[in-house]
Amino acid sequence: MGATILGLETSCDETAAAVVRGHGVMCSLLHSQHEVHGKFGGVVPELASRRHVEKVEAVLRAAMDGAGARWSDLDAVAVTRGPGLAGALLVGVSVGKALAYALGIPLIGVNHLEGHIVSAWIEQPDFPMPCVVLVVSGGHTHLFLASPDGSYELLGRTLDDAAGEAFDKGAKMLGLGYPGGPAIDRLAREGDARRVRFPRPHLRSGSLDFSFSGLKTSLLYYLRDAKRAGRSPVIADVAAGYQEAIVEVLVEKAFAAVRRCRVGALAVVGGVSANSRLRALLHERASERGVRMVLPSLTYCTDNAAMIAASGHRLFLRGQFADWDLEADADLALTEELGPGATCNPV
Ligand code: KG4
Ligand code: ZN
Repeated sequence: MGATILGLETSCDETAAAVVRGHGVMCSLLHSQHEVHGKFGGVVPELASRRHVEKVEAVLRAAMDGAGARWSDLDAVAVTRGPGLAGALLVGVSVGKALAYALGIPLIGVNHLEGHIVSAWIEQPDFPMPCVVLVVSGGHTHLFLASPDGSYELLGRTLDDAAGEAFDKGAKMLGLGYPGGPAIDRLAREGDARRVRFPRPHLRSGSLDFSFSGLKTSLLYYLRDAKRAGRSPVIADVAAGYQEAIVEVLVEKAFAAVRRCRVGALAVVGGVSANSRLRALLHERASERGVRMVLPSLTYCTDNAAMIAASGHRLFLRGQFADWDLEADADLALTEELGPGATCNPV
């Protein structure tokens, strides 16, 4: 049946708790703060921490109730320890630590990025390794080679903005709401990407690194030039063209990594993997090239605690527990400190 792990996630603007037993998710809940930050056009760190403090107890009790779990059923508490917003992380780490200490069970510190990676295996526990993993979120755009021993090799990463940031900043310029990814995704369905073509940054460089800041500038200039010329572009077409540029680069690089590593499997995870155009193009390319692919369900793409609990379960089986002096680490890295191409053990 496996161990029962409570997972807590408070690294950004979702207060999330989940209970997993073995490979099964018993309950995964979250309180989203999008309405708090929406009017500011982005996450306000101080407001995020305060809202986590207000909501964390209710969310965690609801997840325990939803799972039908008693405190005595828990084998460990897993909590996101970084990367993320320092004050926000501190809330989850403090609660997780207090709970594990009071219950006399191990505390497990989880790297948020590893949580996203592990989300690929929540619904497909048999998905093969080694495989290439593309992590695309608000803060990260990374390509890893994941090995069965739990190590990750960094293959490429963004040199500037993350893909989610490109969506969020682009949406702001287009006058759409926060978070921008879902807003562009929705609007782009009504537009025609062929009418407005944006550059595909870094596509032909042969490198597996990404760069999205130039694309953002292209959008800025496009909108400025249109305004100067007295033109009113169809915003849905602009959104579709902008989205297409991001998506094409992500898909091309992901499959280039699969080719280069000579593996037949690709996992795509993180908030941006919820994008409908990205999902469609990935499926198309995977079936053309005979690559086995996993894309988590939408609830497991964006931040959630099931991925933290699932990641905690892996670490529990390896006996990798945290000390009571575990601290939140806003800049926690998975492999980056060793530089591209390096291999190290997670967390
Ligand atoms: O993984 P996530 O929930 O949080 C981080 O760890 O950053 O990712 C959030 C990011 C945001 O930038 C958001 O705009 C983007 O994921 N996102 C999307 C979609 N849903 C969320 N981007 C494009 N299309 C979507 N449907
Ligand atoms: Zn995330």
